[in-house]
Amino acid sequence: MINELQHPLVKDLVNRLRSNQTQAEEFKTIIAELSRLLAYNALTTPPLIQSTIDTWQGPAEYSFIKQDDLIFIPIMRAGLPMLSGLSSLFPHSPSGFLAMRRDETTHQAKTYYDRIPECNDKIVVLLDPMVATGGSLNDATTLIKSKNPSKIICLNIIGSREGLDVVESNHADVDIHIAQIDKTLDSNKFIIPGLGDAGDRAFNTP
Ligand code: PRP
Repeated sequence: MINELQHPLVKDLVNRLRSNQTQAEEFKTIIAELSRLLAYNALTTPPLIQSTIDTWQGPAEYSFIKQDDLIFIPIMRAGLPMLSGLSSLFPHSPSGFLAMRRDETTHQAKTYYDRIPECNDKIVVLLDPMVATGGSLNDATTLIKSKNPSKIICLNIIGSREGLDVVESNHADVDIHIAQIDKTLDSNKFIIPGLGDAGDRAFNTP
């Protein structure tokens, strides 16, 4: 399932990312805001737990999100600001890390680091702002599936239709929530119009 968010607030934030005037700090702040809006849309039926808390009127039972059962995994580098955005909403959730780099000639993603916690029967939320050819998200999803999570949810900022189709055709059981689906890819497999290279823009590298 691919869900493209349509809210004007989401589109406004995406279009601010497209601007070359948007410098690294603001870029990361906008990515963080978009990540919270994506999570708001994606996590409508999270695992819940009833807990008794002390309130000003004494002990009372309320429902809370079972944060231990949600694992957030950014695809580094560019996924890191997404994790920062979500840590205030999910301060008790475990994080995993997966670092991938797309080869500039072949455009194939290569994994160069992974540190994934126990995922058995947990919900894994994969974070990557960009889905170009879909290779990185596709391979990340395959790797996470081998860890037996109960579900995988992908939060993405901008993707190309062809890249998203690749992921969906291989992983129809995965939910993808994305802020913007753009037209196409250029000959270098960059999203058009896109926003350039999110990792470079977030971390001030050429
Ligand atoms: C970018 C982006 C995605 C990937 C998308 O990362 O952040 O992870 O490419 O491309 P794909 O869909 O064709 O695989 P990049 O490899 O530039 O690494 P970075 O995050 O370190 O900048």
